Amino acid sequence: MARVFSGIQPSGILTLGNYLGALKHFVVSQSEHEAFFCIVDLHALTLPQDPLELKQQIRTLAALYLAAGIDPQKATLFVQSQVSAHSELAWLLQCISYIGELGRMTQFKEKSEDRETVPVGLFTYPVLMAADILLYDTNIVPVGEDQKQHVELCRDIAMRFNQRFGSVFVVPEARIPKVGARIMSLDDPTKKMSKSNPSPASYISLLDDEAVIRKKIMRAVTDLGREIVYDEANKPGVSNLLVINSLCSGRSIPELESLFIGKGYGDLKKDTADAAVSVLGPIKRRAERALAGSEIDEVLAAGATRAREAAQPTLLRVQQALGVR
Ligand code: TYM
Repeated sequence: MARVFSGIQPSGILTLGNYLGALKHFVVSQSEHEAFFCIVDLHALTLPQDPLELKQQIRTLAALYLAAGIDPQKATLFVQSQVSAHSELAWLLQCISYIGELGRMTQFKEKSEDRETVPVGLFTYPVLMAADILLYDTNIVPVGEDQKQHVELCRDIAMRFNQRFGSVFVVPEARIPKVGARIMSLDDPTKKMSKSNPSPASYISLLDDEAVIRKKIMRAVTDLGREIVYDEANKPGVSNLLVINSLCSGRSIPELESLFIGKGYGDLKKDTADAAVSVLGPIKRRAERALAGSEIDEVLAAGATRAREAAQPTLLRVQQALGVR
């Protein structure tokens, strides 16, 4: 059975982009494959975090994984820092990674751009991500478009290692959805929707109230003209709403285009808000229930045990191949 691994940072409340581009697909994959899903708290530390807030965000992310449909009977859900093999393998992989290839990562360039000082962890971030993936002999990595380059780097590192030290790693592949791999910001549809954007109007959080979701979508920036057609280059705002609507309502984009012939942007927005609310309302309610109970702690403890058992043999194989154990 193929192995699936993916991770999400607890660096803010998840957005509709995280859900449509990644989490929704994790849920489908857990029934088809052996799946590991991780709360990558060590990655969140690459930028400043308030310790108390981070602790809370880890629990909230766990609740959202469960609320979105991750079933702990089928998939292993765990926190990265509870499995020390991630940090250990990351160090070993850093020793065969190059400054040049890390410097080419677009996320590193974007995130370090306006900073006075740049933490080394932000630079080596993709190597920790490679360790996450490679520890579990992962075949498939479901991610949104923005993580494609990181998974490519992970493949390069794995192949380089195998060439030098023997066939130790499974070389994974990214799985990127055909529609929704890059949900755009509501107030600037030329930019990615992101949980780290300082403007809350730019994203829909999975814990937004129904009224807030409606307001944000009704105020979304749209384009010149009146026609409701999918055209990323000339109508990025309308195209983004069509994608969100399609993924939340299950109707195809051509179906939506014909439905809205002769109608206005206001109609599209109202219908999209209805579709988003119908998906997000139940997720928010389930997440709130999970946060109030003790299920999360039990699930994460059991997940960490299972993850350690799966990761340890890989770490040992790597150490032996390198001659350090
Ligand atoms: P993160 O936490 O930024 O995002 C989690 C997942 O959500 C996807 N995503 C989006 N998809 C569509 N539209 C958007 N606007 C959007 N924004 C985010 C991301 O592509 C991602 O799949 N480095 C990773 C976390 C990570 C990881 C891993 C992922 C650490 N180790 C190992 C896979 C495998 C990150 O920061 O994702």
